[in-house]
Amino acid sequence: MRLATAWLLGACCGLTLGLDIYDGPKPDLSDTPFGYAATSTGGSTNKSAVYIVSTLADLKEAAALPYTKTIYVNGTIHGNELADGSLADCQTYIDTTGSDNTPNRQFNFTLYILAYNETYTALVNAAAEAGETIEGRDATEYAALLKHQNGWRPRVVATQKSQVGLHLTNNTSLIGLDTSAALDGINLYLSSIDNVWVRNLKLVSPADCFPAPETFPSSWNAAFDAVGLVTSTNVWVDRCLFDCEDGTDNVTFSHNIVRNHHKSLLIGGGTKEADRDLGKMHFTIFGNHFNGSASRNPLMRFGTFDIAANLYSYVNDAEQPADTPADAIFQYHLGVYNQSTVHVRANAFEATGDHVTDTSRLFTVGEATLPERPARICVDSASNSTLNGEAVDMATVAQARVDSIVEGGQAVEGAVLVTCDGVAEEGYELPVVLASGEDVEQYVLANAGQV
Ligand SMILES: *[C@@H]1O[C@H](CO)[C@@H](O)[C@H](O)[C@H]1NC(C)=O
Ligand SMILES: *[C@@H]1O[C@H](CO)[C@@H](O)[C@H](O)[C@H]1NC(C)=O
Ligand SMILES: *[C@@H]1O[C@H](CO)[C@@H](O)[C@H](O)[C@H]1NC(C)=O
Ligand SMILES: *[C@@H]1O[C@H](CO)[C@@H](O)[C@H](O)[C@H]1NC(C)=O
Ligand SMILES: *[C@@H]1O[C@H](CO)[C@@H](O)[C@H](O)[C@H]1NC(C)=O
Ligand SMILES: *[C@@H]1O[C@H](CO)[C@@H](O)[C@H](O)[C@H]1NC(C)=O
Ligand SMILES: *[C@@H]1O[C@H](CO)[C@@H](O)[C@H](O)[C@H]1NC(C)=O
Ligand SMILES: *[C@@H]1O[C@H](CO)[C@@H](O)[C@H](O)[C@H]1NC(C)=O
Ligand SMILES: *[C@@H]1O[C@H](CO)[C@@H](O)[C@H](O)[C@H]1NC(C)=O
Ligand SMILES: *[C@@H]1O[C@H](CO)[C@@H](O)[C@H](O)[C@H]1NC(C)=O
Repeated sequence: MRLATAWLLGACCGLTLGLDIYDGPKPDLSDTPFGYAATSTGGSTNKSAVYIVSTLADLKEAAALPYTKTIYVNGTIHGNELADGSLADCQTYIDTTGSDNTPNRQFNFTLYILAYNETYTALVNAAAEAGETIEGRDATEYAALLKHQNGWRPRVVATQKSQVGLHLTNNTSLIGLDTSAALDGINLYLSSIDNVWVRNLKLVSPADCFPAPETFPSSWNAAFDAVGLVTSTNVWVDRCLFDCEDGTDNVTFSHNIVRNHHKSLLIGGGTKEADRDLGKMHFTIFGNHFNGSASRNPLMRFGTFDIAANLYSYVNDAEQPADTPADAIFQYHLGVYNQSTVHVRANAFEATGDHVTDTSRLFTVGEATLPERPARICVDSASNSTLNGEAVDMATVAQARVDSIVEGGQAVEGAVLVTCDGVAEEGYELPVVLASGEDVEQYVLANAGQV
């Protein structure tokens, strides 16, 4: 193994920065993408730009290079790692927002939450009007402080976001060197870029320090995904773990492990993006292991989805341990939403718990309102799925689910069709064609995850 250093001129300040060039041993990964991302090359075409990084600063610098490149990740890189190597905590983001003495550094998450409580703020305001103190503080000052929290929150959120956010650029491969490679607490953005590979990485999404309540006080909206895809094309995510949204095309999501996640893969964002997404959004979801993933495996809108050879291991239980958060309880696997076309090939479902034969949650249907533009579920009868090793007729299962949702009044008759009519062939070959659930299980257990 030989390490050399490429000296690059820092673009911003004329500083000379160093990135290590890497020509040592590589992980044993096939370099042949398949599925809708089959023609992507990532950074593989430029052998003179192969780097290795183990700090956040180097990772950000390498990711920004404006040419075709491959970046190997050595070990765990933390999203909260600061320039001096220390790790930021939530208070750090507050203390570094804006300039010294700027009022927004008085942001306090506890006070931000308190300010949502109208009973509480009414007490504080009444004390302020009466010129009193409350909880040992000057009520007038305290009332003003509470009032400012909501306006300050976006500023501290922006500080955390710029710290933990990593923007990839065109023609890039980002690859974990071995099983210890991880991006921990980094929010990987693939925004309007083309031709990217993200492989062999453990991706842990950042904890949102300052979440906003969706509906106070019960539901929270945590802002960061491990990977966000927005209008990007020709993307191969292989042997990792990811979350994904919006306006994207020709993506292969393969051999990843999605473990203990609540809302795992959202493909196709809000309705306002429909025009951008319709006709695009071609996804191959192949050979992944969804292990304990409670919902959205994936949730699909507006695009075309080839769901083949995935293994689903999950607990389908009426009684969940009391400490299970509501959104961690298994809900469904395949979410067929607004105008999606879903091709289901052989997949293996392995359920434990007291509802092991329940097929009603293999699919769910949502936003099915447009019979003139129906969603389609095409079940491939050449390769059947299994539930706990038994063949399961996915077309019948899907139709039953559609019927019950239409009966319940949550979908319009004819807005979801279980049919292969009008569903075009993908026009590519998968790396292996697995005809049965047992073969799928063996294949996924042998091939999913890092090497
Ligand atoms: C390949 O990498 C070198 C840096 O080593 C860079 O100068 C060159 O522009 C890159 N080529 C392409 C086609 O991106
Ligand atoms: C990866 O990092 C470890 C720990 O810092 C170091 O010992 C090792 O040499 C690095 N590997 C490469 C290929 O640079
Ligand atoms: C935030 O406010 C709470 C409640 O008043 C207080 O206990 C805590 O010390 C404050 N935190 C900081 C960093 O000032
Ligand atoms: C709101 O504030 C009041 C008064 O301090 C308190 O009794 C109540 O428990 C608070 N509600 C919540 C949801 O925290
Ligand atoms: C990406 O690489 C392709 C092929 O090497 C090249 O045609 C294209 O211009 C590159 N894109 C960017 C933005 O550099
Ligand atoms: C990436 O390439 C696309 C064209 O494929 C171009 O529109 C876009 O500006 C490029 N993005 C960056 C960050 O270079
Ligand atoms: C997606 O792939 C198809 C088939 O290879 C190709 O026709 C289409 O142009 C690709 N779309 C993009 C945005 O690269
Ligand atoms: C699923 O993940 C759990 C840890 O959450 C692990 O103990 C178990 O072995 C995994 N199942 C399989 C089939 O790999
Ligand atoms: C489905 O998408 C269309 C846009 O194509 C939108 O007008 C409609 O409101 C969406 N339906 C639902 C229930 O979101
Ligand atoms: C798959 O299941 C369908 C319906 O149960 C059946 O007709 C077909 O023969 C099966 N295909 C295979 C390859 O077992």
